[in-house]
Amino acid sequence: MKLSLSDHPDERMYFRQHLLEWAQGISRPMPWKGERDPYKIWLSEVILQQTRVEQGMPYYLRFVAQYPTVAALAASSEDALFKLWEGLGYYSRARNLHAAAKYIHFELNGQFPDTYSGIRALKGVGDYTAAAIASFAFNLPHAVLDGNVYRVLARYFCLDTPSDGVAGKKMFAGLAQSVLDPEAPGRYNQAIMDFGALQCTPGQPNCGVCPLRARCAALAQGRVRDLPVRARKPEKRERYFVYVVMEAEGSLLMRKRMGKDIWRNLYEFPLLEMEFLPERETTLRNRI
Ligand code: ADE
Repeated sequence: MKLSLSDHPDERMYFRQHLLEWAQGISRPMPWKGERDPYKIWLSEVILQQTRVEQGMPYYLRFVAQYPTVAALAASSEDALFKLWEGLGYYSRARNLHAAAKYIHFELNGQFPDTYSGIRALKGVGDYTAAAIASFAFNLPHAVLDGNVYRVLARYFCLDTPSDGVAGKKMFAGLAQSVLDPEAPGRYNQAIMDFGALQCTPGQPNCGVCPLRARCAALAQGRVRDLPVRARKPEKRERYFVYVVMEAEGSLLMRKRMGKDIWRNLYEFPLLEMEFLPERETTLRNRI
């Protein structure tokens, strides 16, 4: 059997130690860093699921101010929650947060789950978010694995298995777990997230001053830019939405979306979906 670099315990130890040392020397203050309250960590991680850190930060601060506890969130109306979420998009996150808060408050006596499987069972919590909450709040040894982590590991160990195939996912999950520091999983997870965001970035990796450069296999082979490899390209489809703004006696006509799809329970102007991008007048003449 051919052993790859990532199979060597020394290599994994070097990686871990240098990563943790690097993290001690950087400054990337974020209001949830060092937080131990699982509820607040959960809020921050759900906000950051599809949102950049700079954009998510003010939302996080407003959220913990308005809903300081799981009980407060459980008692909120969905409309009030959506109002606070306005601008973040992917509203199913807010809907799932609400459902999970009610579940914790009413079914679990307000006790936030303190095991990986208990956390993972909450609505809207996937493997990544569960590992982040479990490690930050309870110091449980679960490695986070997202796009940043794939990139860092694929480059350091020079692995070109596609990170989005079944085999790749399994391999990277095992590797991520094996480089995790079992003594300090929260600190380690935060370090690799920060490293992917600041140092080993997708477009402009800062290899010249990288603490891992001496043993980065992709750097040695001139393959940093090629990694990680992604097999599937998401299919893109063009869609044309025409919103009709109708005003009468100072009121605007709006409707609440009730279908079980995107933007459920949110308000919008009457919507026509077209096959082509139409001329304004044609649209109205033909459809209304
Ligand atoms: N992205 C998701 N969680 C994060 C965290 N805790 N710190 C930085 N970026 C993140």
